[in-house]
Amino acid sequence: MDRKVMDREALLASVREQMPERRWVHTQGVMETAVILAKRYGADPVKAELAAILHDVAKFWKVDKMEAAIREEGEFVDVLNYDKELWHAHAGAYVSRRDYGIEDEEVLGAIRYHTSGREGMALLERIVWLADLIEPGRDFPGVDAIRGLAEQDLNGALVAGFDTTLGFLVEKKKRIYPLTVLARNDLLAEIENTN
Ligand SMILES: [Fe+2]
Ligand SMILES: [Fe+2]
Repeated sequence: MDRKVMDREALLASVREQMPERRWVHTQGVMETAVILAKRYGADPVKAELAAILHDVAKFWKVDKMEAAIREEGEFVDVLNYDKELWHAHAGAYVSRRDYGIEDEEVLGAIRYHTSGREGMALLERIVWLADLIEPGRDFPGVDAIRGLAEQDLNGALVAGFDTTLGFLVEKKKRIYPLTVLARNDLLAEIENTN
């Protein structure tokens, strides 16, 4: 079977048709921001863009379809016990490999952990996570401060971003996925160790 990644235009068209226009606009914002951040912090901009294109591919799938993909993959079924917001990231990573031929683990990790984060986030994972939060279409209290941090302090911007998203989950009385807490702890430890 030919596992070659489809060409960029075909990929963009395929992803676009799986989401409403506003989410496509968001995806383009994430692509643009991820490329800027990748260049700024020494990651591969081509991989950053590819992960950004696919990060929300499953976002508007029916819940059943996301669940089926996660069960078919089998390795991350635990996520089904947590907020459905997390599901599209795992389903997206799985179909990026299954349907789009992406084999690059860095790209797949950036898609898989773009919502939750995780302990020991790879550089590309950090970049896509942050790009998703601060792309030009995002508007929430504090977003400009995080954008400012992202100009020169990737980990500082990530911690500020995790603080915001965790605060939002607490406020909404939502369960917190343990990996998200570990992601923040790990970033804080990393910052302490480099200071
Ligand atoms: Fe997402
Ligand atoms: Fe997104």
